[in-house]
Amino acid sequence: MPQITIDGQPCPYEGKPTILQVALDNGIEVPHYCYHEGLSVVASCRICLAEVAQPNPRNDNKLELIPKLMPTCQTPAVDGSAVYTQSPKSIANQKAVMELLLINHPLDCPVCDQAGECLLQDYSYKYGSGQSRFEENKIKQPKKDLGPTVLLYSDRCIMCTRCQRFTDEVTGTSEIGIFGRGSSEQIDVFPGRPLDNELSGNVVDICPVGALLDKDFLMTMRVWNLTSTPSIDGITASGDNILLEWNDNKVYRIKPRTNLEVNKWWTSDEIRYGWKFIHAEDRLTTPSLKGEGKLGDRKPINWNQGLPAAVEGLRAVVSKHGNGSLAVVVSPMLACEEAYLLGRAICEIDPDATLAVGPVPFDGEDKAFPGGYTIYAEKAPNARGVRRALGQITEQVVEFDELVKNAAVVKGLLVTGNYPSNWATPGILSLLDGRFSVLLDTLPSGVSAKVDVLLPGVTWAEKSGSFENVKNRLQSFEQAILPI
Ligand code: SF4
Ligand code: FES
Repeated sequence: MPQITIDGQPCPYEGKPTILQVALDNGIEVPHYCYHEGLSVVASCRICLAEVAQPNPRNDNKLELIPKLMPTCQTPAVDGSAVYTQSPKSIANQKAVMELLLINHPLDCPVCDQAGECLLQDYSYKYGSGQSRFEENKIKQPKKDLGPTVLLYSDRCIMCTRCQRFTDEVTGTSEIGIFGRGSSEQIDVFPGRPLDNELSGNVVDICPVGALLDKDFLMTMRVWNLTSTPSIDGITASGDNILLEWNDNKVYRIKPRTNLEVNKWWTSDEIRYGWKFIHAEDRLTTPSLKGEGKLGDRKPINWNQGLPAAVEGLRAVVSKHGNGSLAVVVSPMLACEEAYLLGRAICEIDPDATLAVGPVPFDGEDKAFPGGYTIYAEKAPNARGVRRALGQITEQVVEFDELVKNAAVVKGLLVTGNYPSNWATPGILSLLDGRFSVLLDTLPSGVSAKVDVLLPGVTWAEKSGSFENVKNRLQSFEQAILPI
């Protein structure tokens, strides 16, 4: 296998990577701003420059130093070469780049959202010179509203152009451009064309400094107080790998987690901002029984009353109507493990129960972006996993519409929801008519108002489990916060 040495450490590689890629793959840090794995290489920030010696085939393959510093993000690795990122010349360059980048930077870390996860802070500490020789007035740039989700603090921008390349290469929408020249050069959007695409939040993640900020997260929490829990998209069928970031049992933001085979480095705004229902004020938290009064007038009970009420009610249906009179509707919002356990539980009561998959919501059509990311029309994380888990119990897993059509034999129902919005469609409401029903759900709806026994459930952030995505990829997720 070919290899190079970086600061004396042998680094094997495959294919035709650049020196920076070899370094990163071998766990060696080389500072870089403009380079991002998911974007084209522009080699404009110059902080990754290093001294490189390559074997010269015209001179018995002896190592010869290239007489200028080379951008490691752009220079292909050549078998046998030696790279020096810690040599006096390389270090002098790192210090010079840091000093120049900070000349017009406002140094407002105490009030900057990026503090704690800012490459300008980190590299200042590791590669900077500790003090500035610049005594003149700094150029001040305005703050700008780039679109519905993102703010630009131009003062802090280091012109790495990652955001501009993202809108060119990944979304293909090209809203962000580079305007002006020299020290007045700045990032902006074109007049009348805000940054308003379905993946817009990703520019905040890839901005290495605090120039692009997420309006939704702005000034809500210091990042060092957040715990990141690896998770999977819980509201669409994409299976995007994400991080749920939370503090004090409250989710504050969702960030994409790199998985080159699923979502690459990105996630959609729909997923990024789609977690708010977890903390909806009207979350169902108390078991209840159907009241005597008008719709929605329910009688709260505790769990010691709720579980027996559900089980005894379902048993009573089977005693009266015989085996085959129960059905379980397992929501595609639930995990595979829950689907399996619910299926098993209902079959304990009625061995011939119908096992059905709940309604699978769709919105529009799949949308593929030039950068290889796809937003799926299917808005449930686990329809396939639920089918597969129930398929371990019965050979005949029924789709929801089929259940509604052939509901005559069903006299009692165990229904599950967990949808992020009201799912009281005529189909599910008609199914509840005249039947004993138990519901496990997270948000109030026309369904929760109608059922005989209601048991509060938890969202995917409050439990662990696994989802099977639209491409049949089974992925597990961890519990982030405690059940609300
Ligand atoms: S706003 Fe951020 S991502 Fe865009 S060019 Fe400036 S520093 Fe780079
Ligand atoms: S990372 Fe190499 S020049 Fe910017």
